Amino acid sequence: MKLRTIKRTMAARPTVDGAGVKLSRVFGYGLTDLFDPFLMMDHFGSDKPADYQAGFPWHPHRGIETVTYLLEGSVDHGDSLGNSGTIGPGDVQWMTAGSGIIHQEMPKPGKDGRMFGFQLWVNLPKSEKMCDPAYHGFTDAEIPRFRADGVAVKVICGQYGGISGAVRGVAGSPFYIDVKLEANARLEIPTPGTRSAAVYLYRGDCSVLSSPDGTGKTGECRERTISALDEGEAALIAAGTDGASFIFISGTPLHEPIAWQGPIVMNTQEELDVAFRELDAGSFVKVRS
Ligand code: FE2
Repeated sequence: MKLRTIKRTMAARPTVDGAGVKLSRVFGYGLTDLFDPFLMMDHFGSDKPADYQAGFPWHPHRGIETVTYLLEGSVDHGDSLGNSGTIGPGDVQWMTAGSGIIHQEMPKPGKDGRMFGFQLWVNLPKSEKMCDPAYHGFTDAEIPRFRADGVAVKVICGQYGGISGAVRGVAGSPFYIDVKLEANARLEIPTPGTRSAAVYLYRGDCSVLSSPDGTGKTGECRERTISALDEGEAALIAAGTDGASFIFISGTPLHEPIAWQGPIVMNTQEELDVAFRELDAGSFVKVRS
């Protein structure tokens, strides 16, 4: 079996988005060849509410899915489909913007002023970009877990160890798990053939191994870095002495043209122009509550 090796490693970079939220951009614009069908990943979080409380007031999305996964603090949200509520620690919100949604996401501090989580943007295939918007929300308790010795895998989307993830019925076949490995524990993650795959280490340390006996290390992952992996049938990840907490994503590349402006990602400039004209004209949202 061919194990995946590290193709490229990148550190998350500090940036400011929304109404002035300080966050770390794990990857984004210009890197779709490496992460296709994933467009962007942000790691947001701080123990200073002033860094994030301005939040992400009402804004549009079209042509993508936004996936918010929170570990600490909370996010109050509302959208043009009529959904509203609060995402708490461990909860996931998988939002299919499709033809258009307008929403807001306002982070709130948890314990000791902390707020911490991730947002991933998944591109929609051309055929689905104008689909009806949809919303999937799951609490921490509703997300299935796989457990083994020294290993805990939260299966957000896709299948791991015979366990189906919480999020189903979304376009393509995205795979999204949150993994905790105790010190020196290992995890093999099957990743069919040509799918894109990446590991984002958010705590601890781990290595990507190139041989099952553990003699070959293709690279060490550092905290707050993402490692895009080469093609292969599985990834074998070993925690170091501090244990490791990481997000693992994989998906089938779309290989489609990208026209991306702010929160809207289409295939052509003309489609972007239409979207922004519709926003000005008040006809952007096609499906409301
Ligand atoms: Fe958004």
